[in-house]
Amino acid sequence: MGHVLETRGITKNFTGTKALDDVSIYVEPGEVHGIVGENGAGKSTLMKILSGIYRKDSGEIFLNGKQVEFNNPNEAIQSGIGIVHQEVSIVPNLSVAENIFANRQPVNALGLINRKQMNQDTMALLEEFGARDIDPGGQVRFLTIAQQQVLEILKAMSCNPSVLILDEPTSSLTDNESEALFASIRRLKEKGTSFIYISHHLDEIFKICDSISILKDGRFVCRADVKDIDQPFIVRNMVGREITDEYGSGQKQRTAGEVIFEARQLGRVSEFAKVDFKLRKSEIVGVFGLVGAGRTELASSFVGLTQPETGELYFEGKPVKIRSMKQAISMGMAYVSEDRKNSGLFLKKTIRDNIVANKLKKIAKGPFISKKTGDRMAEDAIDRYSVACSSKEQLAGDLSGGNQQKILVAEWLSDVPRVLIVDEPTKGIDVGSRSQIYGFINDLANQGTAVMMISSDLMEIIGMSDRVVVMKDGFVAGEVAKEDMTEEHILSIATGVNQERGIPS
Ligand SMILES: Nc1ncnc2c1ncn2[C@@H]1O[C@H](COP(=O)(O)OP(=O)(O)OP(=O)(O)O)[C@@H](O)[C@H]1O
Ligand SMILES: [Mg+2]
Repeated sequence: MGHVLETRGITKNFTGTKALDDVSIYVEPGEVHGIVGENGAGKSTLMKILSGIYRKDSGEIFLNGKQVEFNNPNEAIQSGIGIVHQEVSIVPNLSVAENIFANRQPVNALGLINRKQMNQDTMALLEEFGARDIDPGGQVRFLTIAQQQVLEILKAMSCNPSVLILDEPTSSLTDNESEALFASIRRLKEKGTSFIYISHHLDEIFKICDSISILKDGRFVCRADVKDIDQPFIVRNMVGREITDEYGSGQKQRTAGEVIFEARQLGRVSEFAKVDFKLRKSEIVGVFGLVGAGRTELASSFVGLTQPETGELYFEGKPVKIRSMKQAISMGMAYVSEDRKNSGLFLKKTIRDNIVANKLKKIAKGPFISKKTGDRMAEDAIDRYSVACSSKEQLAGDLSGGNQQKILVAEWLSDVPRVLIVDEPTKGIDVGSRSQIYGFINDLANQGTAVMMISSDLMEIIGMSDRVVVMKDGFVAGEVAKEDMTEEHILSIATGVNQERGIPS
């Protein structure tokens, strides 16, 4: 059988970077084809070319055997290529249904938008995906990042593409939501839809993909059927070395000390309630929960982004009110946000300026850092985190997704903070760099930092945490000690129906 989609010799240059060099891949009808490679390998660039966002410098694209040229995203969609981008691109002021049906709303006999129909269709899609907690009429800006991601996926699926590209679709999803996505993929696959699936989670690749292509530094390395290979094969070919002890259990040299940060009966209406929470010196506390459990909201109230309405916070035993992020920073707190686009990175600034900017905020020592010091800080960070970039003067917004995340982490992990709060720290980061970041977090904890690590990646939670706090519906549903940390146990608390305490009010 012929290929649904094929690229031959695709090349793409950006100023100073050869993003793609002679890349040829193909996708067969009804298969899920994985694309794997390190951060900056060129995966998203290739997908943007296939979906009409970027123009290729050279090479050819074939769809069902016919050569095609896409001058804009619409032409690609018309031809049957759908894409869910790595970064959510939803219009915040429209409703859920309006987003899904943007530019193709169902109309009634008078040519007016049939809102009822639209909401019904949306409801059906949401039902199918098991996302009943999303209100079709609700405004998108009130959705969490995970819910927005679900929306993006539904939007692309609702166009019935013949090839659907998913660029790291699960990076903000919990396991349950990922499973719902996989179920949808399998269903559409039965009907003949083909997929290109990009992920840094290799276990997902083995779960959902039939075949993969590996990219490295903009070049095609090899294609393989998933049934013929194992994880070490992929890692070897994409990273060029083996990874052992990913979570650095061998590096752990610490015992938890005194309580540094504490919340007592903390609450904020419709976010979380009655939260008792302790962070000790030299301890990594993993915080797990399903979407909507209130983890990010809780962290925001710890670092002054929001104000708790009930309860108290204590810092080194003394009651504190943290009114702003600036105050939190001056107390020695650091915060890596899950939302790099809105509260992390200055996309229009250079890598160097991003690194210097946050450093400045942190040491709050007056505005002046010499050019030389700034340059050195940026070069150190690029080196330490192996950031794939043309130079420290590259705009942060032009970096690959994973490399943006590395800059964000680099900004915060360069000092030894008293308290470090990281929210989904390895979102979008490749396997090699991920173990590096774990190494840095372990180092900080070994040196005395109290770490709160929010993550939806259960393996990461279990691998890294000294203690796990599980949240559910805004409450602390349970705590798990090292020796009891199994996936089943943590999940049963996170999904537990036994804790009948309702929604915080
Ligand atoms: N608009 C742009 N301008 C300049 N350079 C770019 C641009 N887009 C991508 N690049 C560069 O091209 C290379 C490939 O980036 P790409 O986003 O395709 O990587 P990726 O494989 O998707 O990585 P990740 O896993 O981090 O998402 C990177 O070095 C990146 O910095
Ligand atoms: Mg990418």
